[in-house]
Amino acid sequence: MTGAGGEIGHALIARLASAGRTIVTIDVAPLDQELAARVHRAVTGSILDRTLLDRLLSEFDIDVVYHLAALLSTRSEFTPLMAHEVNVAGTLNLLEFAQQQGEAHGRPVVFMYPSSVAVYGLPDLATKRRLGPVREDEWAQPTTMYGCNKLYCEQLGRYYTRHYKQLAADTVPRVDFRCLRFPGLISAMTTPAGGTSDYAPEMIHAAARGVPYACFVRPDTRMPFLAMPDAVQALLTLAETPRARVTQCAYNLGAFSPTADEIRALVLAAFPAAEIRFVPDAKRQAIVDSWPAEVDDRAARRDWDFAPAYDMARAFRDYLIPTIRERYR
Ligand code: SER
Repeated sequence: MTGAGGEIGHALIARLASAGRTIVTIDVAPLDQELAARVHRAVTGSILDRTLLDRLLSEFDIDVVYHLAALLSTRSEFTPLMAHEVNVAGTLNLLEFAQQQGEAHGRPVVFMYPSSVAVYGLPDLATKRRLGPVREDEWAQPTTMYGCNKLYCEQLGRYYTRHYKQLAADTVPRVDFRCLRFPGLISAMTTPAGGTSDYAPEMIHAAARGVPYACFVRPDTRMPFLAMPDAVQALLTLAETPRARVTQCAYNLGAFSPTADEIRALVLAAFPAAEIRFVPDAKRQAIVDSWPAEVDDRAARRDWDFAPAYDMARAFRDYLIPTIRERYR
């Protein structure tokens, strides 16, 4: 698992460790002690370090790669070259790593890749308001470096799975790439860093901590979200789905698509003293305005029975509010 110390990593390690899986992690920052205790080996290092990846290759037999390491969309706009390096060159290194693992095993290595709603790029707000749920093959003209990186890496994954070294006499593709286009994710345990959908989790966590929050998008801003347990469940389910049922390389996922104001209302219902104002940042607003209000996730529901347990009311009532309250007590 790369990027293991990030938001998804936190939740995924807990699930995989409870299921008794042996986990090897790599992250540029040392893993929290609590997480490190649940994994077989926690390596501190970069996915850009090929010598390190070669060492892991010789030391372990890896069946599934969860490649979570990335710079998110807001951060990537400040350092686009570094974002490209980590998000694209890093992914290429991991795909090559998986291919070599697969060649050593003689069977495919499942490669789980979180892509993003950021691969979409709608031309203007009028279009966003007019559209219904957006399908995987529509409107993929991202406006951010992060979105471009994710979209291209989806294609690289497809290449490694279906066409790798297609002219070489004796090379068999050994990567089984599977990708989820996540919407904004909301976790009760962690807050994200450097994303543009961060206003939703930030609003909730700030209210629970009793800290005023200035939301950087307009109240009417709408985009899709998923609660973290559903995101992790989707990764685990798709990783285990028989290959024949996986009919496309990338799947949209969505669960609820609230406006920022609707999120604020639920937060206020739980924390009536919360101070939440709207102070839109025109540039970050433009990024969210280029993302669809809703995604069409029928392919995931059809092919591998994606069925999020949490709609918005249940996510707040049964997961976010009780867990966050406990966390900041
Ligand atoms: N949550 C991510 C971001 O805001 C989208 O993938 O960058």
